[in-house]
Amino acid sequence: MMNYNTAFFEAAFGTPSQLGVSDLPEIVFTGRSNVGKSSLLNKLFNRKSLARVSSEPGKTITVNFYRVSAGGAGGDVRFVDLPGYGFAKRSAGEKRRWADLLDYYFRTERNIKAVVQLIDMRHPPTEDDIVMLNYLLEMDYPFFVVLTKCDKLKVTARSRRRELLREELALIGGRPVIEVSAVTGEGIDELKRAVEKAVFG
Ligand code: GTP
Ligand code: MG
Repeated sequence: MMNYNTAFFEAAFGTPSQLGVSDLPEIVFTGRSNVGKSSLLNKLFNRKSLARVSSEPGKTITVNFYRVSAGGAGGDVRFVDLPGYGFAKRSAGEKRRWADLLDYYFRTERNIKAVVQLIDMRHPPTEDDIVMLNYLLEMDYPFFVVLTKCDKLKVTARSRRRELLREELALIGGRPVIEVSAVTGEGIDELKRAVEKAVFG
């Protein structure tokens, strides 16, 4: 069992060479800038601001590591907050650095238990979201989708988006899709169950 109360910030890496190899089980959060990755991690850890929530999206380009104890023989699990993609105002240099960092992260020898792909429930997946999903499929990573900010949709709009997303996300096949809100806490228990399953089988 994951003990989220033990979560602590481990490190932030801004350049590929700092990342190193790792054999710790990792749960990786990906998605476009501003989709709610850091907010969701805070909700998961039940901490106000362990993961920095940016008022200015896309400002920080670092890979952030958080450690959670899985209790007893379970050892530690690392939660990885990857810098968001699709931030238009980034300079060419920053985009290059972002691409290098992610490329390096996924290419180093790691023990990735699950990639959690975040998509804003209010909108269709962006082109970058689809590129990312295809990448995860091609590389055969275990992954599932989390639809964020579900609190921002009223009942009817929400069921409409749910319907549409079934088609928009047809490429992911039968993988789980979990609706969450970092504001109300909806879906967090379901997310925890999915994480548990990914780490311990
Ligand atoms: P980058 O670090 O730039 O990649 O963004 P991020 O994906 O980490 O997003 P972040 O958690 O910083 O959230 C972006 C904005 O969305 C913030 O203003 C959050 O308060 C807001 N937000 C995040 N999750 C939710 C949610 O579930 N509901 C609502 N209403 N707002 C949310
Ligand atoms: Mg963030």
